[in-house]
Amino acid sequence: MAKRWRCLGLLAALLALPASLWPQALATRRTSLPYPFVPYDAGKFRYVGIEGCNCHLLELEGRKWKEEERGHHKAMQRLKGAERQNPKCLQCHATAYGLPIKDDKPYLENVQCEACHGPGERYRRRRLKNLYNRDPEQARVLSMQQGLVVPGVNLDVKDVCLRCHWESRTAPKKCPRSDKVFDFVKYYKLITHADDDAVDARLRVPIRGPLVP
Ligand code: HEC
Ligand code: HEC
Ligand code: HEC
Repeated sequence: MAKRWRCLGLLAALLALPASLWPQALATRRTSLPYPFVPYDAGKFRYVGIEGCNCHLLELEGRKWKEEERGHHKAMQRLKGAERQNPKCLQCHATAYGLPIKDDKPYLENVQCEACHGPGERYRRRRLKNLYNRDPEQARVLSMQQGLVVPGVNLDVKDVCLRCHWESRTAPKKCPRSDKVFDFVKYYKLITHADDDAVDARLRVPIRGPLVP
């Protein structure tokens, strides 16, 4: 009995504190993700190109991307002559073909970060970058609401790959020059630069279970 009163007393004392003295976790306003989470409407934000990802290029994700052997970073090299103007090829060997791009470019060369991570116009802004230092979860949620896709977290990762890869030799939408079939586990290992953290774990939308089976 006495113990219960002591607890209530403690609670009352805590509530009486001015809000500025509350523990950080209690005082931070949380924005929850709408579920099912639709990350963005493809036409809503503009793509900005790899220069917008400069800070990341020096980190693991940038280094890994540039080291990919049959790389996304050089996918345009597969196209020769007129193929470099062929919408059919550019749809998969380039980024954002047919979507709004800053400076009205028709497409961005190769399979860049934004091909998988969504148009960067809004989420790469400095204001959000500063918020990342103070409240990473809030910053991540706001970024996602402004176009950021973290495949495997707010969009099914395999669905992202299957925009350009195919799982059967008779797939209607496949590369006319390649018969290689996409093997998710094998391919994912070759490009992974995931940097799983507690924020990802909380925000992950469990569409198809674990990221890699
Ligand atoms: C649906 C998406 C898609 C389209 C459309 C597409 N490609 Fe590809 N292409 C790919 C992917 C993905 C690969 C790599 C496949 C792999 O290694 O599993 C590839 C591979 C290639 C290769 C290398 C083949 C090899 O095995 O060495 C060439 C060359 C190529 N594409 C040319 C083209 C040309 C030319 C066009 C337009 C006529 C085109 N692609 C259209 C997605 C596409
Ligand atoms: C082929 C698709 C693809 C491309 C291209 C790509 N990424 Fe990723 N990226 C992923 C996937 C898949 C993940 C794993 C998500 C996770 O952590 O669960 C990821 C994770 C990340 C993460 C960690 C995010 C987190 O919350 O854990 C960062 C940062 C990142 N990518 C940056 C980049 C940058 C910068 C580039 C360009 C240099 C790039 N990515 C190109 C697919 C891609
Ligand atoms: C915008 C289109 C696009 C998306 C989205 C995409 N890829 Fe690719 N991917 C390509 C193209 C084009 C190539 C061929 C590059 C080349 O041959 O230089 C390729 C090649 C690859 C290769 C090398 C294959 C080989 O034969 O060695 C791997 C691995 C790969 N992709 C994994 C993935 C994974 C995993 C995802 C999803 C997280 C993904 N890709 C999403 C277009 C894409």
